[in-house]
Amino acid sequence: MKFFVDTADVAAIAELNALGMVDGVTTNPSLILKSGRDILEVTKEICGIVSGPVSAEVVSLKADEMIAEGLKLAKIAPNITVKVPLTWDGLKACKVLSDAGHMVNVTLCFSPNQALLAAKAGATFISPFVGRLDDINLDGLELIADIRTIYDNYDFKTQILAASIRTVNHVAECARIGADVMTAPPEVIRKLASHPLTDAGLAQFMKDWEKTGQKIL
Ligand code: G3P
Repeated sequence: MKFFVDTADVAAIAELNALGMVDGVTTNPSLILKSGRDILEVTKEICGIVSGPVSAEVVSLKADEMIAEGLKLAKIAPNITVKVPLTWDGLKACKVLSDAGHMVNVTLCFSPNQALLAAKAGATFISPFVGRLDDINLDGLELIADIRTIYDNYDFKTQILAASIRTVNHVAECARIGADVMTAPPEVIRKLASHPLTDAGLAQFMKDWEKTGQKIL
């Protein structure tokens, strides 16, 4: 499973990228707001760090305007993925932009039928939001599993990009189900390394090592 980092925080992206943990980046208008940066500038900087797909989201609601914004965003760098919302206009923009050779990420997907439409419109990625379904007592992981089955039934090439990943359990379950990609905030990716038994085991090793009175360096 590929790891995308869901942030516009350049320092966090650079740190995780240096560890080989970043196969791509996703941003959205809320993350741009959080960064306090200009969308074109920060996206360009991210594309200079990460060679994989970097999603930049359009903000218009009409297909023609989405296409114009998408074409402008795509000029930032060759690894830009234009992110469009899963609306009828968004699907129209997806079809035009993907036919023109651009990578497209269709976002805000909450049902298997929406995922089916995105695949038929030529999306490179579909972004089902796991955490936001869990927030309203629905099963976000079940949606990932349903889309996996549907795409495999018909051999759709659209990649399932599990988004709104909030917990380490979401990550493991997405990998078990077979999501192609998951995108998570840097803090969730860092948490994947933590286990209480690792901490306890390490503390014991340190205690015993001190008692040996030895040094390696
Ligand atoms: O990029 C979209 C997404 O991952 C949103 O996550 O936590 O705001 O639902 P969240």
